[in-house]
Amino acid sequence: MNVVPLGPGFGAELRGVTLRDVAADESAYKEVRAAFEEHSVLVLRNQDVTDEVQIAFSRRFGPLEVTKVGSEGFGTNLVILKTLDDNGNVVPEDHRLALRNKANQLWHTDSPFKRQPALASVLSSRIIPGRGGETEFVSTRLAFERLDPALRERLENSFAWHDYAYSRGKIAADLASPEERAALPPQCWRLVWKNPANGRGALYIASHTCGIEGMEVNEARRLLGELMQAATAPERSYVHAWHKGDVVMWDNRATMHRGRPWPANEPRYMVRTTISATAADGLETMRAPPRQAAE
Ligand code: OGA
Ligand code: MN
Repeated sequence: MNVVPLGPGFGAELRGVTLRDVAADESAYKEVRAAFEEHSVLVLRNQDVTDEVQIAFSRRFGPLEVTKVGSEGFGTNLVILKTLDDNGNVVPEDHRLALRNKANQLWHTDSPFKRQPALASVLSSRIIPGRGGETEFVSTRLAFERLDPALRERLENSFAWHDYAYSRGKIAADLASPEERAALPPQCWRLVWKNPANGRGALYIASHTCGIEGMEVNEARRLLGELMQAATAPERSYVHAWHKGDVVMWDNRATMHRGRPWPANEPRYMVRTTISATAADGLETMRAPPRQAAE
């Protein structure tokens, strides 16, 4: 396996390894895992991707998130990002599916609003629009390391709130359904996620981040806005332009990503698997101390 850095100080392309190798072979997994801890975003090209192979690859890294799809209501390990209705027609721009894609165009990390946040996501492209529709990444590890030491120390000891309804509300007031709001109450996590494999901290922020524990809300949002802006400076990003057979995996503890727009009349169809974080990934260090009883 060859690890070829992508350029902006994080991210690497893996050559000479397939999803099937990793699914079948512990030593291939270990090599890919080490590259994941180091580079935060991994690109694998020319893969023969099926849902089954993507799931088998992803399972190596930890337990998979279970999500519910549409009206069938059964659990699945796949998140389908598409703008096609059940008849295969591209949906109008104000359709829920299109608005959900729009929410994914805000800088974010996956699942900080869940009780068990995500270690990693694995995304494959199945239908690629003729232009646009890239996925863009930044390193929140490098962003954290660029901050001055006093602010770094303060953030390491701060905790932030993450709310799915808050980020969806930036696109449309009712985009998070009542069922989703009830299932996804806001979660509080340390603002810096330290990777136990290498001791390096990363800002743990996203479009979902709505407040900082113990800080007045406007003040908190101003600080969060400054951190977001510093982290997402355009010259610091890696933009992945999708080709058939591409698979991209990212570390949700140390990166943010966003989808890029594409012509609304063109279809796009992506499939994601999401790996939950566990104690081995540093999750326990992220928990806020129990809140003081309200006065
Ligand atoms: C995701 C996501 C962006 C895209 O899959 O989590 O945010 O480009 N995707 O589709
Ligand atoms: Mn995402």
